[in-house]
Amino acid sequence: MKSDSFGAKKGSNMRLVAFGAGYVGLVTGTGLAELGHEVLTVDTDAAKIKKLEDGVIPIHEPGLADLVRRNRRSGRLTFATAVPPGFDEADAYFIAVGTPPDKDGAADVSAVFAVADHIAQVAKKAALVVVKSTVPVGTCDAVQARLAKSKVHLEVVSNPEFLKEGDALNDFFKPDRIVLGAKSDTARHMLRELYAPLQLSGERMVMTDPRSSELIKYAANTMLAMRVSFMNELSRLCHVTGANIHAVRMGVGADVRIGKKFLYSGPGYGGSCFPKDVQALAALGKTHGVPMRLAEATHLANEEQGAFLARLVEEALGGLKGKTVAFWGLAFKPETDDVRESPALKLGLALLAAGAKVIAHDPEAGPNFSLAVGGRVALVDKEYDALDGADALVLLTEWRSYRAPNFAEMKKRLRPGAHGLPATILDARNIWRAADVIRAGLRYQGIGVGATAERPSTTQMGE
Ligand SMILES: NC(=O)c1ccc[n+]([C@@H]2O[C@H](COP(=O)([O-])OP(=O)(O)OC[C@H]3O[C@@H](n4cnc5c(N)ncnc54)[C@H](O)[C@@H]3O)[C@@H](O)[C@H]2O)c1
Repeated sequence: MKSDSFGAKKGSNMRLVAFGAGYVGLVTGTGLAELGHEVLTVDTDAAKIKKLEDGVIPIHEPGLADLVRRNRRSGRLTFATAVPPGFDEADAYFIAVGTPPDKDGAADVSAVFAVADHIAQVAKKAALVVVKSTVPVGTCDAVQARLAKSKVHLEVVSNPEFLKEGDALNDFFKPDRIVLGAKSDTARHMLRELYAPLQLSGERMVMTDPRSSELIKYAANTMLAMRVSFMNELSRLCHVTGANIHAVRMGVGADVRIGKKFLYSGPGYGGSCFPKDVQALAALGKTHGVPMRLAEATHLANEEQGAFLARLVEEALGGLKGKTVAFWGLAFKPETDDVRESPALKLGLALLAAGAKVIAHDPEAGPNFSLAVGGRVALVDKEYDALDGADALVLLTEWRSYRAPNFAEMKKRLRPGAHGLPATILDARNIWRAADVIRAGLRYQGIGVGATAERPSTTQMGE
């Protein structure tokens, strides 16, 4: 009989393995090491592991580089491409590998299964297998079945990750909730011990079964994406009716049942989570004969927002062929270098396909963007250099350094529009005041900000 003693004693440090040195795995492994545990982070990407061993952090995440270095120096954090002897007696294995969409939008969990098979082969001691990757309902059960090949008792727990890129360490150390889907008290107890230092100020655990836990993650992301898509649809309605999305947002958000967060219209949601998780929930519903109509519509509305943005650029320039468009911001959000499904990537590809040229600036995401578009976009180090000779500027990511720009400098550098009309600034994040742009002799275009393009004053709206 397999022993089920997981070996974690109250308050004692544990030996842990995190699979995946990406945004989730690296933050989780490093965070756990910082709490005092001995952590090995495993990634099959040998180049990534080599970088980490050389002290180079392969992703941009504020504060992470310092924390990795500190924990490496202390010896608590190590890296490898497979589990070496010593760590085969770990107390818990965390799976934080990618679950990208397959051709139908369903989550591809093959990397999760590959890790499960690896653990089943190497584990020499009873342990927990904690699935942090976002996976469809029933995946943890499938992982448990694969682990049955192991000689030792391995128990799967669902523990979906909710970190936000750009603020990931804060989310790790101060989570607003820790969702655990476990089947045994032993597993629940061990994870409660592990996460105890993150809940000193109060209970944050949502304890449930693995299937509910898996669904919570998709439900949360789809709910957030749905709010964004709804505001984006409203912004398109504002665009044609002359209503102002700023006012609509404040008027709607003042209702405490609705709340003010996630009500900003913009270029459409992007990143490695919302687009794929919304589609994966829709695919999961289809598999089970329960159509997820709202998830499907959320995705379609997001696609439409991307097309709307491309139309705005085309209208502003009177056609795209031979035009040059400057981009400020390439990452899907500020404080990350992640360009997966970013609005800039979608727009960039659409403009290139229509025969336009793109010159771009981003404080961190330039190299990833260049890789994603096969080097077809010129990158500049200084943001104003992107404007030299460009026909329009599109602001796509609201990095702090773009918030108070020199519009007069923009005017000097941009090419004037046809018939001497002012060049267009397309503020896809609605962060600039139209009056400031117009005063500098440029044309302002926001997303659904109506005829006035001004924000209602906050006191007027009682915010
Ligand atoms: N990025 C986020 O903001 C975020 C937030 C919450 C949840 N998630 C979920 O977490 C999971 C990981 O996301 P991510 O953004 O960190 O992905 P990522 O692409 O940044 O990293 C995944 C890593 O896993 C590695 N990998 C693949 N197969 C492997 C294997 N067999 N063994 C070891 N390593 C392997 C890859 O080389 C890569 O480095 C996904 O399911 C994602 O949906 C992501």
